[in-house]
Amino acid sequence: MRLPAIPKVAFGGDYNPEQWPEDVWKEDYRLFDAARIDTVTLGVFDWALTQPGPDVYDFSLLDRIVEQATAQRRQICLATGTGAHPAWLARAHPEVTRTDFEGRKHRYGQRHNSCPSSPVFRRLSTELARRIARRYGGNPAVVAWHVGNEYGGACYCDLCAAGFRDWLRDRYGSLDALNAAWYTTFWSHTFTDWAEIEPPSALTEHWRGPNHTAFQGITLDYLRFMSDAMLANFSDEKAAIRESSPDVPVTTNFMGMYRPIDYHRWAPHLDFASWDNYPPDDNSPAWMALAHDLMRGLKDGQPFWLMEQTPSYTASRDVNPLKRPGVMRLWSWQAVAHGADAVLFFQMRACRGACEKYHGAVIGHAGRQDTRVFQEVAELGAELDRLGPATLGGRTPARVALLFDWDSWWALEISDGPSRLLRYQQIVHAYYRALWEAGVDVDVVPVTADLAGYQVVVAPALHMLKGDLAQRLAAVAERGGSVLTTFLSGRVDEDDNAFLMDVPGPLGPLMGIRIDEWDARPPEVVNPVRLHGAGPDVEVEVESRLLFELVIPQGAEVLGTYQADFYAGTPAVTRNSYGAGHGWYVAAGLDQPGVHWVVRRVLERHDLVGPYADVPGLESTVRVGPDGTRLRFLLNHGAEPVETAAHTAGTDLLGGGRVEPGQPIRLDPSGVLVLREEAAPTRPTTGPDEDREGAR
Ligand code: GLA
Ligand code: ZN
Repeated sequence: MRLPAIPKVAFGGDYNPEQWPEDVWKEDYRLFDAARIDTVTLGVFDWALTQPGPDVYDFSLLDRIVEQATAQRRQICLATGTGAHPAWLARAHPEVTRTDFEGRKHRYGQRHNSCPSSPVFRRLSTELARRIARRYGGNPAVVAWHVGNEYGGACYCDLCAAGFRDWLRDRYGSLDALNAAWYTTFWSHTFTDWAEIEPPSALTEHWRGPNHTAFQGITLDYLRFMSDAMLANFSDEKAAIRESSPDVPVTTNFMGMYRPIDYHRWAPHLDFASWDNYPPDDNSPAWMALAHDLMRGLKDGQPFWLMEQTPSYTASRDVNPLKRPGVMRLWSWQAVAHGADAVLFFQMRACRGACEKYHGAVIGHAGRQDTRVFQEVAELGAELDRLGPATLGGRTPARVALLFDWDSWWALEISDGPSRLLRYQQIVHAYYRALWEAGVDVDVVPVTADLAGYQVVVAPALHMLKGDLAQRLAAVAERGGSVLTTFLSGRVDEDDNAFLMDVPGPLGPLMGIRIDEWDARPPEVVNPVRLHGAGPDVEVEVESRLLFELVIPQGAEVLGTYQADFYAGTPAVTRNSYGAGHGWYVAAGLDQPGVHWVVRRVLERHDLVGPYADVPGLESTVRVGPDGTRLRFLLNHGAEPVETAAHTAGTDLLGGGRVEPGQPIRLDPSGVLVLREEAAPTRPTTGPDEDREGAR
């Protein structure tokens, strides 16, 4: 593991002076000084400049850009520039362009457009990375390498088909094993030669609905293969960088919850994670928090970089809302609160032309310093300067893990039945949001993560159960922890074939239930669920939608029952005693209050509800610095001011001054408080005593 060597939270972002005459550059740095910009990401889309022809490399412009940044004492995050290939390359070697799901061979255009299996692309992108590292790697201003850009999409060309067959040979060894995994006796699909295998596209396995195919096993493996093929592109470049730059950490910018790429499979190959945060609207603090935690979970809790965010608006949406005053600052602090050691923007100076000319930038077309956006950036720059290294390297002390699994995501959403309306991210988000509202720190981790440090493990829609996961989850409950899972969990093995046992498969003993039937309905059909079991005072009725599994308890206690249809009165939520702990099962698509109720019962048992829970709009997270310093972040995402009281003594790192326990705290809308706490707050006692788990 390597992290960029930086003295404070890195601040700045994508900077493309190659789009501007050089006299503008000077003015840029004057403005960067005014905004305390200390980091620039250079050269992200420079391939056509640095390699203007097949055997011609020309670094003169990039040299001047790097020299300028170095002379101006900025940290450089240097890109290899391979996120968009040059036009001459596509003309000379048509193999570099992609073929889409519909089978259309693309011609030159756009970006993120190279076929990952193209030998020419692989050779030339690697060579470019090699030359850039050799040329600039000795410059101490270069603190990080940025390979490619936002890897993604998919290609269905013949080169990829050949690559897929090689990948399959590696994975299965024999056609017999492949036929078994893909269940090819179905519809006479038995393959007798590797050459018969085709990528699952509109021309081959397409079946009812966009991107749906008839053979889930083939589609699943193609998703895995594509993710690996692009990872190989990244790894090619990284290896070439390492030839001359052994120590500078390497990353590529991810996109949070991005379906096409299994970031967990990529993570071990990156030195540090970074990602681009472009939330769909300004109402999604829990969604962003989930994405941040997922990104932090990629490298075992190590800090990540917020590689891009817009200071104001994007341009790529149908409708592009403006970040309200204070929101850019709030979301920047949210990133830091969840583990970011860098706050970077796309971009420093606005493009004049093309599709991003109306995308927000720190410096707009008029080059003014007195705009609201520039002023807010400058104020944040000053604030981060004042803060210094306090947050750097901090870790999140989470006792709750949420499992996130690309294979389960894929398997769930490529499935025919029970319902195409079920969306993995929405299910995961509902549970995450309930945790977020409880003000509890959460690690979002892969299913392979070590679960020993967690008191609570939440695994929404854990459709696919791989390896020894069922045993490891059982072990969590065995030692007194709680495991919470939902409908559509424990259904298939890693080949996406159903378990030949009662649902929820290997999770059955832990959950103490059996499911023989399920019912999927359109969103307008509501089945009320009555939740009970913790005393009549907390009995509530909530709604459930989309999916209703019919549960037959096998020892589990019933905490919620359906109120309608022929299964009225049967269980919708159960809790099973297992070892010293519990297995919780939510069989229905509960609404948010329902999810909230269940998650609260689980957290209360472990006394994990955070001290600042339930203040509407208020987010609370903790990072613990390398020296043990405990930083509490309080963020007001609501439209109203928040009034609460400090739970422990601390120092206000942004505003200055001390806070005593019980002292009123007021946060305006978009307000941020960073407290250096003197002790962990004592939590309010909740839940029955005999239920409380001992210290870990
Ligand atoms: C992405 C890209 C950038 C830019 C921004 C615009 O994150 O990496 O090059 O296109 O989107 O929002
Ligand atoms: Zn291809």
